[in-house]
Amino acid sequence: MSKLSITDLDLSGKRVLVRVDFNVPLESGQVADDTRLQASLPTIRHILDEGGHPVLMSHLGRPGGTVVPNLSLQPVAEALAGLLGREVILAPDCVGDEVMDGLKRMPEGAVVLLENLRFHPDEEENAPGFSRQLAELGEMYVNDAFGTAHRAHASTEGVTHYMVDCASGFLMQKELDYLGGALADPARPFVAIIGGAKISGKIDVIGNLFPKVDTLLIGGGMAFTFFKALGLEIGNSILEVDRIEVAEALLKQAEEEDVDLLLPVDTVVASQMAEGVPIQTVGRGQIPVHMEGFDIGPETARQFSEVVLKGKTIVWNGPLGVCEMDSFSKGTRAVGEALVQATEQGATTIVGGGETAAAVADFGFADKLSHVSTGGGASLEFLEGKTLPGVSALAEKEADAKEAL
Ligand code: 3PG
Repeated sequence: MSKLSITDLDLSGKRVLVRVDFNVPLESGQVADDTRLQASLPTIRHILDEGGHPVLMSHLGRPGGTVVPNLSLQPVAEALAGLLGREVILAPDCVGDEVMDGLKRMPEGAVVLLENLRFHPDEEENAPGFSRQLAELGEMYVNDAFGTAHRAHASTEGVTHYMVDCASGFLMQKELDYLGGALADPARPFVAIIGGAKISGKIDVIGNLFPKVDTLLIGGGMAFTFFKALGLEIGNSILEVDRIEVAEALLKQAEEEDVDLLLPVDTVVASQMAEGVPIQTVGRGQIPVHMEGFDIGPETARQFSEVVLKGKTIVWNGPLGVCEMDSFSKGTRAVGEALVQATEQGATTIVGGGETAAAVADFGFADKLSHVSTGGGASLEFLEGKTLPGVSALAEKEADAKEAL
């Protein structure tokens, strides 16, 4: 069934409460990557063009339910104002009388951004009272926060219980159309590349991907926990001791389910994570005790690229090394190049996750891939076939809803 769309709503003169995902990286108090802001512009502009009043809400970081001044959305409001070419008013909070009074006085054509939702513990607890307070701020609700759709929070799920018109925004639709279309019946071979520093956030994903993919490539920091599970020397490389058993179980599961799981065969090591330090490439299990692994080695990059070039659907989440440093970015770049080439050959290539999206943008590959998702965890959960609470909470299109009765 298809979800109610922003284009199904009569927005004219209405205060439209929009959940966006403005959880963006900050550097020295400035937005360091505005990809997620850019991605929300079509929805915001549409509301303004239709004569509606956008009231945007988002979380930023993980302040843990208290006010953390460094995680104020102020820099985001400034960056968004620059992109929109109009004033963006940052509300002093996200609920309460002062906010409501401000909204009532909202100047024509203005955009309001509510302050960080996660300054209140009720947001992540999906508290009904808080959800109701949010709902009172708008006459209609639009969810455009694909990146947060895997969280059942007050602003993504709870609020929909207190509003009648709950629709998807353009970004949400684009992500669902793209990911859903490509993954419903993926062209094969279907290759997944999972990287990133930690295995902890991606354990379920890895196991759930086994029955779906033909080949799974594992790189990045998490590979060292797998190496440890195989009894190999990893020197001082990043290790999640409490996940060694899980890694062991995943390796066993891959064998039982006959999944082609590839781990790096060589590693770029150094004594510390810094530019300009001497680096060396060593084979699997040969990391010197005083050294740390920071990138996949050239032979791994070659093998991974070979698999990617044979793939027809390729999904990538998580960098394969410390790709923000030149010395340790070669593996991620090489595999990114292979994805670009695979796209040129007609494969569907999907990249998700903030760091991976930033890396492909840095390398100039972003517009040479089929789709760069604004969702990290959300795109992975979608890939696993999980229901995203932020999506299922939205209303069905009227015709579909009637049919279901
Ligand atoms: C993300 O960046 O993946 C989303 O904004 C969700 O953030 P969270 O993992 O802190 O819930």
